[in-house]
Amino acid sequence: LPGAPGAQDLAGRRVVVSAGPTREYLDPVRFISNPSSGKMGFAVAEAARDRGAQVTLVTGPVSLPDPAGLRVVRIESALDLRSAVLQAAQDADLVVMTAAVADYRAAAPSGEKQAKVAGDVKVHLTPNPDILAELGQAKGRRVLVGFAMETHAGVERAAQKAQRKNADFILLNYPTQAGTAFGGDDNQVTLVRPDGTHEAWPHMSKREVATRLLTEAARHLPPLTP
Ligand code: CTP
Ligand code: CA
Repeated sequence: LPGAPGAQDLAGRRVVVSAGPTREYLDPVRFISNPSSGKMGFAVAEAARDRGAQVTLVTGPVSLPDPAGLRVVRIESALDLRSAVLQAAQDADLVVMTAAVADYRAAAPSGEKQAKVAGDVKVHLTPNPDILAELGQAKGRRVLVGFAMETHAGVERAAQKAQRKNADFILLNYPTQAGTAFGGDDNQVTLVRPDGTHEAWPHMSKREVATRLLTEAARHLPPLTP
């Protein structure tokens, strides 16, 4: 039974998981980031490991220790996340992007700490590359899973993202739901496919979300070639 305790249904599979926030430095002591705790991604990585997969976990700065039994790559910026994920994804069967990638970085980060000035300042930001979309452009037989947090029109927006990025599905959550998403141990997500079909999963632990995600993703995997 997939996901049952002890099931090794991901044996022989390579899985890449991204987790946590990215940091986009404005100068050596200041950055733009977000409150992602990394818990969802770590849960996916650990669940995949426990089902026999060979796992690479690429994570931004979070307070969680390295899980045993998998490869952990610690990065800070979206550009570094991109390099590490694309590298690890080369021979991967499944990539799960839970990382809360900053959409922008400083166009010209300062090498020195910027002193404050009187009055307002403007910061020139430039867009970061979309890692999931890049993976989707050369998808091959890899299964791609994304996460999205939306405040409104969630299913519609998540389906559009799955389509645009060529992901197999996206797990959608809302920041407004009490006890879910950022920082918590539980999550309530809706699975959204590129064609707009969707199913709301009950409120459950992030570990249980991870288990269900992997079971769904495993259905999309091609058969193992001996
Ligand atoms: N993602 C990514 N690279 C980025 C931004 C997002 O790989 N530069 C991935 C995330 O890890 C997530 C999925 O894309 O799995 C959806 O992220 P989201 O921020 O919701 O998508 P965006 O395209 O950035 O849309 P928005 O304008 O709503 O932020
Ligand atoms: Ca975004």
